Amino acid sequence: MSFSILGTGKAVPDYVLTNDELSTMVETNDEWIRTRTGIEERRVCKGETLTELTVRAAEEALDNAGVTASELDLIICSTMRGENITPSQACVIQKEIGADCPAFDVNAACSGFIYALDIADGYFVRKKVKKVLVVSMDNLSNIIDWKDRSTCVLFGDGGAAAVLGEGDDLLAINLTAVGNDEVLLIPHGSNSSPFYQHEEQRAVLHMAGNEVYKFAVHAMSSGIKKAIADAGLTEKDIDHVIPHQANIRIINASAKNLGIDREKFFCNVNHYGNTSSGSVPLALDEANRAGILKKGDLIAMCAFGAGLTTGSCIVRWNKD
Ligand code: ACO
Repeated sequence: MSFSILGTGKAVPDYVLTNDELSTMVETNDEWIRTRTGIEERRVCKGETLTELTVRAAEEALDNAGVTASELDLIICSTMRGENITPSQACVIQKEIGADCPAFDVNAACSGFIYALDIADGYFVRKKVKKVLVVSMDNLSNIIDWKDRSTCVLFGDGGAAAVLGEGDDLLAINLTAVGNDEVLLIPHGSNSSPFYQHEEQRAVLHMAGNEVYKFAVHAMSSGIKKAIADAGLTEKDIDHVIPHQANIRIINASAKNLGIDREKFFCNVNHYGNTSSGSVPLALDEANRAGILKKGDLIAMCAFGAGLTTGSCIVRWNKD
């Protein structure tokens, strides 16, 4: 016994930050960003809080699943930075939607959604739950260096949620982590202790893009390959790939390495940029609502991110 995905929902901020507007902030241009990343625009929080977005995504997913908040047995929120250090974002969501169940956060950066699915799977296997809500959301605009053109053009705010119920539709799931704070790091900004003796680092994202790029192409190709093999399938059996939306070139290179038809890769990186842990479920929700996913379809999902972490899985879509 594992789980089935019963419904999905997304939430993104209203404000659309285009490449042209970014070009007025740092020395860049639409052509560079499009050709190097595939990104045309991204959403950025102005009025919205992370809490509003997580709650909106959760409520949409519950509605899509036909499940009420009172039926939930567990809430997992994957985020790198909730609204508060504590309570967890999952507890905030639990209060706002009126649920009565355990709730906690998980931080695996962009791989957070797949990590959360794997944790949820354990609860289903142990028969501790019947309905689980997973919400994956980041607002990286709070922790981006808006003067660093090599990173600020890449990211956006937003995310999505999924409601899971008992079922047998998780066919394989695979997580990895290789501890590395050299190529991708977002440090804490401040320390209130008068005794602490270390220099404070700015709480902004530092990334060696080229290093992450190489890791990402390998991670996506090998992660999906392993998940397909673990599920007893071949590449030909896969109907859709929902990849982490970081860079269209990473997606194209992975499709080529895997020999899976590029048309099967769902992409919305052009509209949202990299929304970190929100990225895979945001793409899943858009594919769901666009009617692209048919009952019985086999979906490969894969993400990679800071840690460095990766997560890959094969899920059978079981929704009409
Ligand atoms: N506009 C114009 N020029 C730029 C910009 C920009 N926004 N950014 C960099 N450049 C310049 C560089 O300065 C460099 O110039 P130089 O040759 O004169 O030195 C040139 O463009 C090429 O720079 P590269 O870094 O080599 O560009 P590359 O083609 O490698 O693309 C990118 C950079 C897009 C960051 C790519 O490496 C990438 O996508 N990496 C992966 C990032 C990722 O996927 N992260 C996911 C994890 S995030 C998380 O977990 C939170």
